[in-house]
Amino acid sequence: MRYLPLDEVKEGMLLARSIFGEDGRTLLARGTKLTKGYLEKLKAMNYSFLFVGDRPEDLEVKGALSEQTFSQAVKAVRELFLRTAKKQNLDFKAVLDVVDFMVDEVTDQNVLYNIIDLCNHDHYTYLHSVNVGTIATIMGRNMGLSRKELKELATGALLHDIGKMCIDNSILVKRGHLSYQEYEQMRTHAKYGYELIKGIPGLGLLSAHVAYQHHEREDGSGYPRALTGQQIHLYAKIVMVADSYDAMTSGRSYRRMLWSHEAIAQLESEAPEKYDPKMVMLLAQSVALYPVGSVVLLNNLEVGLVTDVTRKHLKIEYLTGDDRGKEVLLRPDDLLKIERRLS
Ligand SMILES: [Fe+2]
Repeated sequence: MRYLPLDEVKEGMLLARSIFGEDGRTLLARGTKLTKGYLEKLKAMNYSFLFVGDRPEDLEVKGALSEQTFSQAVKAVRELFLRTAKKQNLDFKAVLDVVDFMVDEVTDQNVLYNIIDLCNHDHYTYLHSVNVGTIATIMGRNMGLSRKELKELATGALLHDIGKMCIDNSILVKRGHLSYQEYEQMRTHAKYGYELIKGIPGLGLLSAHVAYQHHEREDGSGYPRALTGQQIHLYAKIVMVADSYDAMTSGRSYRRMLWSHEAIAQLESEAPEKYDPKMVMLLAQSVALYPVGSVVLLNNLEVGLVTDVTRKHLKIEYLTGDDRGKEVLLRPDDLLKIERRLS
């Protein structure tokens, strides 16, 4: 199983992770043999990377969420966001159901957020919401939050950007720099989100505060209220780093997509001014530094492919040398270590 740029994917390779449409439906299922037609279509849809394998047994990729829950979450968030945009009555039940599944699935202590989910620009907002929801829930679990707290956190994280549905679409889709007025309007999404979530019976006020505070920063340089340090709620501090991490690793806010370990290093360099260092550390313990599919250089100068990652170990298949094709387990105190990621 590998994570390859689309240009390097060959006809006949098998898709290792299903591709979902913006409504959460499966467009191409895992195991599909990629044809020239499929590859052209994916290119036209702006996909730039794919998880692929050469043999059916290569396709065992375990994400933090099951594919079914992931797809249901995208669907629930999309429907809710679209209803918000159309100012229709909001039904949060589907989102609350999905939150239950998400919290259930991340209770396994060994699960890390280890998949860079495939995304194209057209349905970025919904996928981003689900990614941030998943990362934040894993972080909350790792700091020992109760089930009730995890559900409040997950709901706030999934809906943190719902206020964007109250912003002019021309601003949301604009590429390049926003004018001062446009930027000011964009910033109002935090307050709108707070008001929308707060108004719904059954959703906690703390979930609403996640939307309100997710653009605040430790030193008061954030918005909308320039809160500092202790004025920012724990849930918002968690979502703040999860949101930035996902934006960096999906290449939205930075010129090039950062790899997981680079994004963590970037966040570390911005702590304690922007981010709470404890939260950055928690993130580093909750996401895989080298996700499944990474090709890495080992300190024995051989090249390996990461095929599994948990909090306790990394599984690597040798791609070079006498042991080519064999798998080894790397534990934190082993002498064999990763030097750097190659692709
Ligand atoms: Fe936001």
